[in-house]
Amino acid sequence: MTKQDELKQLVGQEAVKFIQDHTVVGLGTGTTVKFMVDALGKRVAEEHLSIVGVPTSARTRVQANSLGIPTKGLDEVDHIDLTIDGADEIDTNFQGIKGGGAAHLWEKIVAINSRKNMWIVDQSKLVNKLGNFPLPVEVIPYGSRQLFNRLKEQGLHPEFRMTDGKYVTTDSDNYVIDLHLKQIDDPEALSLKLDQMTGIVEHGLFLDIVNTVVVGTPSGPKVLNA
Ligand code: A5P
Repeated sequence: MTKQDELKQLVGQEAVKFIQDHTVVGLGTGTTVKFMVDALGKRVAEEHLSIVGVPTSARTRVQANSLGIPTKGLDEVDHIDLTIDGADEIDTNFQGIKGGGAAHLWEKIVAINSRKNMWIVDQSKLVNKLGNFPLPVEVIPYGSRQLFNRLKEQGLHPEFRMTDGKYVTTDSDNYVIDLHLKQIDDPEALSLKLDQMTGIVEHGLFLDIVNTVVVGTPSGPKVLNA
């Protein structure tokens, strides 16, 4: 396991300590969350926790179920007590970029329907300003080439996300366009602008969403409250 994976595993194990019995837990997506779901599966098996997970992707649902963690869809639960998810970048104001795993649409829907949100990251994800990580934008396939051109004209440096020459598709069968911005000076303004563009389903700017961040450092996990 790489050093970075060790930090991810560490925060995953730390995060599950915050999960209480008889609660509904939003389960994020990504490599860090995978470690968290492993640790949660262990708690469920050993402590017979009675929890329900609401997964933010098909991948996470499959993993959770394989470990004996029961899951429900978002519309099958009354509320979510706590969602634990990863992030691609977090700035000093606790604003974040997500979507590196193309799951940010479901992640954002689950996050805004959660009473509390926790992000788990290794220390490399903490930045002064957002934007070095390309900003993921989920778009409707219909007319997406035209939308791409509009993003380009606006200087947003778009690139369709592809694998093996094929468009990456999300769990909602949409495409992802990554914006190579290098630095985002005004995340709120950019968020508003993208919210208003027809054809964009959701972007990966997660503003004023997180309550707690657990950061993996070589000296142990650090808990930061937003
Ligand atoms: C999934 O689309 C993302 O939002 C992830 O939560 C984010 O990319 C963090 O993933 P890693 O833990 O794999 O870095």
